[in-house]
Amino acid sequence: MIVKEKDILQTYFGYESFRPGQEETINHVLHRNNTLAVMPTGGGKSLCFQIPGLSLDGTAIIISPLISLMKDQVDALQSLGISATYINSSQTMEEQRERLKQVAAGHYKFLYVAPERFESAYFTNLVSRIRLSLVAFDEAHCISQWGHDFRPSYRSILPNLNKLKNIPVFVALTATATEEVIHDIQNLLHIDDTHVINTGFERDNLSFHIVKGRDKTAYVRSFLQEHKNESGIIYTSTRKQADSLYDLLSKRGIPVEKYHAGLSEIERQQAQTAFIHDEKSVMIATNAFGMGIDKSNVRYVIHYAMPMNIESYYQEAGRAGRDGEASDCILLFSPQDVQLQKFLIEQSQMDDAARLGEYRKLQSMINYCHTHSCLTAAILNYFNDTSSEYRCNRCSNCLHRQEKTEITQEAQMILSCVKRMGERFGVTMTAKVLRGSKDKKILSFRLHKLSTYGILAAYTERELIERINFLIAENVLSAEEGKFPTLKLNQKSVDVLKGNQPVWIFTEPIPTNEEVDYHEGLFTILRTLRKKIADEKNVPPYVLFSDATLRDLCRYFPKTEEAMLEIKGIGVKKYEQYGEIFMETIQTWMNEHPDVVPKIKVAHASVGRTKVRSTNSEASGPSHITSYQMFSSGKSLKEIAVIRDLSPQTIERHVFKAYQAGYSIAWDIFFNQAEEAAVLTVYEEAEETSLKSLKEALPDEYDYTTLKAVLVKNELL
Ligand SMILES: Nc1ncnc2c1ncn2[C@@H]1O[C@H](COP(=O)(O)OP(=O)(O)OP(=O)(O)O)[C@@H](O)[C@H]1O
Ligand SMILES: [Mg+2]
Ligand SMILES: [Zn+2]
Repeated sequence: MIVKEKDILQTYFGYESFRPGQEETINHVLHRNNTLAVMPTGGGKSLCFQIPGLSLDGTAIIISPLISLMKDQVDALQSLGISATYINSSQTMEEQRERLKQVAAGHYKFLYVAPERFESAYFTNLVSRIRLSLVAFDEAHCISQWGHDFRPSYRSILPNLNKLKNIPVFVALTATATEEVIHDIQNLLHIDDTHVINTGFERDNLSFHIVKGRDKTAYVRSFLQEHKNESGIIYTSTRKQADSLYDLLSKRGIPVEKYHAGLSEIERQQAQTAFIHDEKSVMIATNAFGMGIDKSNVRYVIHYAMPMNIESYYQEAGRAGRDGEASDCILLFSPQDVQLQKFLIEQSQMDDAARLGEYRKLQSMINYCHTHSCLTAAILNYFNDTSSEYRCNRCSNCLHRQEKTEITQEAQMILSCVKRMGERFGVTMTAKVLRGSKDKKILSFRLHKLSTYGILAAYTERELIERINFLIAENVLSAEEGKFPTLKLNQKSVDVLKGNQPVWIFTEPIPTNEEVDYHEGLFTILRTLRKKIADEKNVPPYVLFSDATLRDLCRYFPKTEEAMLEIKGIGVKKYEQYGEIFMETIQTWMNEHPDVVPKIKVAHASVGRTKVRSTNSEASGPSHITSYQMFSSGKSLKEIAVIRDLSPQTIERHVFKAYQAGYSIAWDIFFNQAEEAAVLTVYEEAEETSLKSLKEALPDEYDYTTLKAVLVKNELL
């Protein structure tokens, strides 16, 4: 049967083959099995009901939550010559009646409605008398109260729908569903386990980034500067935020639009159209914008503040890269974002159980902002309710946090402080105690009498808060649910306290040098070649190969047809036309530059978009030199560690590295002559010269720093 459907795919929609999950879903629907399809945003869910709708007799009814979404889909179908319509409150009664008449006469293959339509007896009556092909629940997570966009009507109309005996089959579609929501949808729509198609959530063209501790507007401005001709969305948490960011950017001549619920329907419509038609490249919006919008070339989605939960985040961020091209999803985090979200939860009309649920989701969102693990994995684990050690090699944690530092001791201090505080306080109070704050509250609770009071005084309060949040994110410490989460120890905390489990943090690697990662000389040559061939053929150069493809050629220097085909943007057709001449040119250049080594190709790594990286990292030169300069201006290793948000061990390494690179150090800060002599004697006499055995051979007062300093100075390390 699927032959016919494949035909429809090609003739109506112009696509060669099905995407993952489509064929299976369509098959189930054709066999009249109620089906749930969970596919990522942009995964192609619409075709899962549009193709069976075309293939089967009768009218397909699509229940859809938003008017704008219905209109888009109906327009798209009509432009393909398919009879489709919608009925909703944006139309006059007259118009609605007219369309219903046509529906009754069976004129439409597709009818889009909001769920509320089924509350009307007139409508259900009419529907009961026509021939139906299927009923689809688009954005089906709206049916579940555990979902993040619960629409009560999605659920309350079910009895009315169940009364209709002429519905052959239900199909439900969503991009964001936790296990809980999937079960809920299954129960409500009677869907067997075998008819749930879940293609997974990962979108391997999206790179997730967390940006912390930066001025948000400055960041946005510099980001937009670097991505001038690209289309993107900036989500804000409030209308006010959207308005002020809009004013700020439009004053600077940046082509922005805005969209939020405070604007009139017409204003919103205009903004959306300008954005979709690439007249304005940047859209600043609240979460009112975007559901169902099929703009394929959105290159980035920036969250100006942390959203309320991971479901919303992934859905909104997922509006980037629907065309499958590499795109960035950036979350700008600041601690105030948490306060705002708590405020919104408090304000909302919810019962206590629902509110607690929201707090639980918020905590997962906060954890996402503090984890040092792969961000893609964090999202996938959230939805799949599992935990895996997967690394995407694209997200900001995979890219930047590569240097491992042990902080077990520090973690133990924090945990034992939580314990001594009776597990009755939250993050901020704990940080204050560790830091030794003279806050009135601390004194009134007599927390300054604790043995852990002030044991981490070398850190700032902000840094301690960050560390505690990190421990929560890594589940080394638990935060109770609720508005003011108190900290509690868990099994992992106990393991850490007993010394059975080490704790690591990951920090940014020391940048070697900030050169581009492809060979610019060759790039220029290939560009010239491209221009020459393009001129001969009278086509624009990018029709041959994009800049990104040329850069890849200058990274990997492919030598064979096979290797050429591995480069993004080179298919068989392109290879046949231009492959050889480009390969020859590369080879000639390689022969002239025998020292150049090709990069190793990492599957899927979208490091081509390194621009985000460069805005993220400090511009002031190699990291170890920055540390060294601070050190020579008289700051201690610990102070530098606090200021730079790095561990003291890292700073120590930076300083020594600078010495090895030829910078001078006043060694008497680290040791005196007698100490140096003692270390050297032990070194000469030792059979085993590992740091550990040298340390053991020395008196206790010689710490690792002293030991290492002597070895570095004498070039023994
Ligand atoms: N088999 C296919 N081959 C190529 N492109 C496809 C295929 N199926 C769908 N597409 C295209 O992918 C894009 C996204 O499809 P669609 O709008 O159905 O996504 P979706 O899964 O409903 O996403 P969302 O969760 O955002 O609603 C559309 O432009 C669509 O035409
Ligand atoms: Mg959709
Ligand atoms: Zn990652």
